[in-house]
Amino acid sequence: MCGIIGVTGTGPAVPRLIDSLKRLEYRGYDSAGVAALVDGKIERRRAKGKIRELEAVLAAEPLNATIGIGHTRWATHGAPTTANAHPHKAGRVTLVHNGIIENFAELKAELVAEGHAFESQTDTEVVAHLLDSELGKANDPLVAFKTVLDRLTGAYALAVLIEGEDGLILGARRGSPLVVGWGEGEMYLGSDALAVGPFTQKISYLEEGDFVAIDRSGARMFDASGAPADRPIVQVSASSALVEKGEYRHFMEKEIHEQPDSVQHTLSEYLDFVNGKAKSGEIDFATIERIQIVACGTAFYAGQIGRYAFERLAGLPCDVEIASEFRYRHPALTKGTLAVAVSQSGETADTLASLTWCKAQGLKTAALVNVHSSSMAREAGTLWPTHAGPEIGVASTKAFTAQVAALLALAVTAGVQRGRIDPATEGELVRALFEAPRLIAESMAMEGSLKDVAHDLSKATDVLFLGRGAMFPLAMEGALKLKEISYIHAEGYAAGELKHGPIALIDEETPTIALAPLDDVFEKTASNLQEIAARGGPVIMIAPKGAPDPHGAGIRRVDAPDCHSLIAPLIYAIPVQLLAYYTAVQKGTDVDQPRNLAKSVTVE
Ligand code: M6R
Repeated sequence: MCGIIGVTGTGPAVPRLIDSLKRLEYRGYDSAGVAALVDGKIERRRAKGKIRELEAVLAAEPLNATIGIGHTRWATHGAPTTANAHPHKAGRVTLVHNGIIENFAELKAELVAEGHAFESQTDTEVVAHLLDSELGKANDPLVAFKTVLDRLTGAYALAVLIEGEDGLILGARRGSPLVVGWGEGEMYLGSDALAVGPFTQKISYLEEGDFVAIDRSGARMFDASGAPADRPIVQVSASSALVEKGEYRHFMEKEIHEQPDSVQHTLSEYLDFVNGKAKSGEIDFATIERIQIVACGTAFYAGQIGRYAFERLAGLPCDVEIASEFRYRHPALTKGTLAVAVSQSGETADTLASLTWCKAQGLKTAALVNVHSSSMAREAGTLWPTHAGPEIGVASTKAFTAQVAALLALAVTAGVQRGRIDPATEGELVRALFEAPRLIAESMAMEGSLKDVAHDLSKATDVLFLGRGAMFPLAMEGALKLKEISYIHAEGYAAGELKHGPIALIDEETPTIALAPLDDVFEKTASNLQEIAARGGPVIMIAPKGAPDPHGAGIRRVDAPDCHSLIAPLIYAIPVQLLAYYTAVQKGTDVDQPRNLAKSVTVE
C-alpha cells in the first residue's frame, strides 16, 4: 500500500516528509520520492529502493522548502524504477497517488492524442496531465480538480502541488484513505494517522469521495458533490504504534475498511496491470497435475473459493482439506501434486504439520501466507505472499480477501500456462480483478442496510447462509464470522442442498442470508429462496440491483454492486463481514477478542 504525506507550513518541509515516510515503511514499498515548491518552482527527488536511497539523493541535491509532498510506492503499474516513482509531474502539477486509476489507458490515449508526452508507465501520471490541462481552462484549482476527479474511475487517495499556488496542497479520497492533520500554522495530509503522527494528533478523516484544499491556516473540505463538508477534528492517540484503530471502534471494522488497499496490494504481486496480464512465478502450472490445498477456518474457505477458480479457469484438479483432518488421514497423493498451505499467520499447527508432511513426501509445496517470515513461509518451496498488513482482529477479514484475491489471480496464471485461457480472456479476467478494489470500496455503501439487518439478526438464535458456486464457501465463511463474534449459531449451505435436510430448520425465527450475484446459477438460487419464503422463513437476499425479484413475497433485498462473476467472492465478502460485525456490535460482544478464541492456533 503506497504511503502519502503532505506538509504546508513555515518550517523546513522535507525533513518532515522523510520522517513521515519512514513511519509509513511498514506498508511495504519499492521506491520513494518527494516534491517541494522551491522559489515558486516544483522540484522532485526520487529513488528506487529504500528511503535511505532517497536521503542520499536529497543529500546530494537538497530541497529547501516549507511545502511539499512525499510518497512510498508499492508498484502496480510499471516496474519499481525511479521514472515510475512518485511524485509525477505534468506542467504546473505534481502529485502522489495511492490506488488504481482503472480508466488510465483510455485517458492516456486521449491525452497523447492531444500532444501530452508521458515519462512513466504509471496510471497516476494521467491525473497530473489531466489536471494540468484543466488548470488551463479554469482559474480556480478546486474547480479544475473536481472536474478531473469526476473523470476518474477507480480507487485513489491523492495529494497535489501546483506551481503558482504557494502554500496550497489539494487532496482527495475514493476507496483509499486520506486524513487531514491540523497543526499550529502548519497543515498536513497523510494516508493514515500514523503518517502525520510525528507532527499532530488532531485529525480529520476524509469520507468517501471527499476532496480538500489545505494551506498554512487550515482546510476547506468538500463532499463528492462539491458541497462544503465539515469533517470533525478528532484527537488520536499520541502513540506512534504501528497499528491503531484510528477513526474506527474496533480493529475488525478498520480491517474491513482496509480491504480496497489490501486487495490491490496483493493483486499487484500476481498481476501486471499495465499489460493486462497474469504474472508467471516460480511455479509452472503446466507441469502440475493436481493441487492439494490445506488450511483451517477462514483460510480453508478461501482455499475452497480458489478451487472453483483453478478447476474452472485452468482445468486443474484441486482438492481442499481441513488441515487437522488431512494430517492424520494418510492421504494418497500423486507426485505431480502441488501442496498449498493457506494461512494468515503461517503458524497454524495443523496447517504447518500438513505442509511438512507433504514436503516429506517429495511433493512441490507453496505457502500462501500473510506473515512472510512465518514457519510456513520458510518451510514451503515457494512463498506466495498476501499483502493484507498486520491483522489484529481475531476474526479474519482482510487476510481472507487477500487470500482469495491471490488464489483468483494464480488461477488466471494457471489457465494461461495450461493453454485454457487465450490472451483476450486473460485481459478480460485481469481487468475484472483490477476493478475489485473500487467495487470493494463501493460495497461499503451497503453498511446502512446491513446495520438494519444486523439489528434483526442479533435477536435470532440460528441463521442460515446460502450460496451456489464460489458463494457456497463464502456462505460458510459468513456463518463462521457470525458464530465467532456474535455467538449466534449459524450454518453455511450450498443453496441446492437445502431440500436435503436444512429446509426443516426454516421457521419465522430463522433468517436466511442469501448471497446471490447475477451469475449463471442466479435463477436456481432464487427458486431456493422462494421455497424458504413460502415456508415463512425471513430471507435477506444480497444481490445486484438489476437482479430480478424471486417470485413470491417477503424477500428483503440488499443491493450489492454489479461485478464480474470472477470477483464476486471478493465483493460479497464485504456484506458478509459487515453483517457479522454489526450483529456483534448490537449484541455488545468483544468483537476483536471473542471468547475462547486465539488469533493464531499454534497448538493442536
Ligand atoms: O492463521 P491462519 O489463517 O492459519 O488461521 C486459521 C484459522 O485459525 C483462522 O482463519 C480462524 O478461523 C479465524 N478466527 C477466522 O476468522
